[in-house]
Amino acid sequence: MYQNANPIGVLDSGVGGLTVVRQLQRLLPGEDIIYFGDSANCPYGNRSEDEIFALTMNMLRFLEAKQVKCVAIACNTISTLAERLRPECPFPLISIVECSADYVVQEKLSRVGLIATEFTVKTGAYDARIHAQNPDCEIVSKGSPNLAALIDRGDFNQAAINEEITQNVDVILAKAPVEHLLLACTHFPIVADNFHACFPQLTLIDPAEQQAESVKNLLVYRQLSNPQTRGSLSIFTSGEPEVYEAVSKRLGLYGPASCDAVALT
Ligand code: DGL
Repeated sequence: MYQNANPIGVLDSGVGGLTVVRQLQRLLPGEDIIYFGDSANCPYGNRSEDEIFALTMNMLRFLEAKQVKCVAIACNTISTLAERLRPECPFPLISIVECSADYVVQEKLSRVGLIATEFTVKTGAYDARIHAQNPDCEIVSKGSPNLAALIDRGDFNQAAINEEITQNVDVILAKAPVEHLLLACTHFPIVADNFHACFPQLTLIDPAEQQAESVKNLLVYRQLSNPQTRGSLSIFTSGEPEVYEAVSKRLGLYGPASCDAVALT
């Protein structure tokens, strides 16, 4: 079975999951991380459930071949399919939707704004998990059709990003006076500064930290933590490695030791 030295897998449709890697490196510095970002097929948020499932299975098979001991699904869109994906994998899957919905409940928020992909919002996955624990929490959601793709391009067109943020968050604020905004797409914390500049009054929630804590708890519980002092980060993508190198730098990641383009079949 799995050994302590086996790597952790992290996957996303693109660069967004690197926001989770940032928290994993902080909380679990000894772990080796294998990251897969499927930028050739990003955005997932405008696709059908069956397409997202099939594309994700390709990434999971790739990570399985790397002998990962668990996989953090660092993508809200994919995490809405966690129950369908789990029986397909020999290792545990940690869903960012579950971690961040539970965080909203723990923080006892009575109202929260939520910006995500259109797919994530349509599934109602956040509403279901939060309301199962706190039926009184008001969740004011808006799916952004373009923001994840704008970020995944890697050129950080400020005018286009600010316009997309403003249009979507204005819709949320027109519905209710929210004070907290859950960034329920892992791409969005990469442009947290843009959110702050456009809406300085809002407290942003980046669920990456909660997911990293769940990974840590799982490894401690299964006695699978890696005792080494400093782990490595290896990035694989179906897109352009240069974008991953640039975003890793922007987020202040340690590494990557390697960043390779691969085609998945
Ligand atoms: N990063 C992904 C998420 O958290 C989605 C981006 C996409 O649409 O592919 O939902």
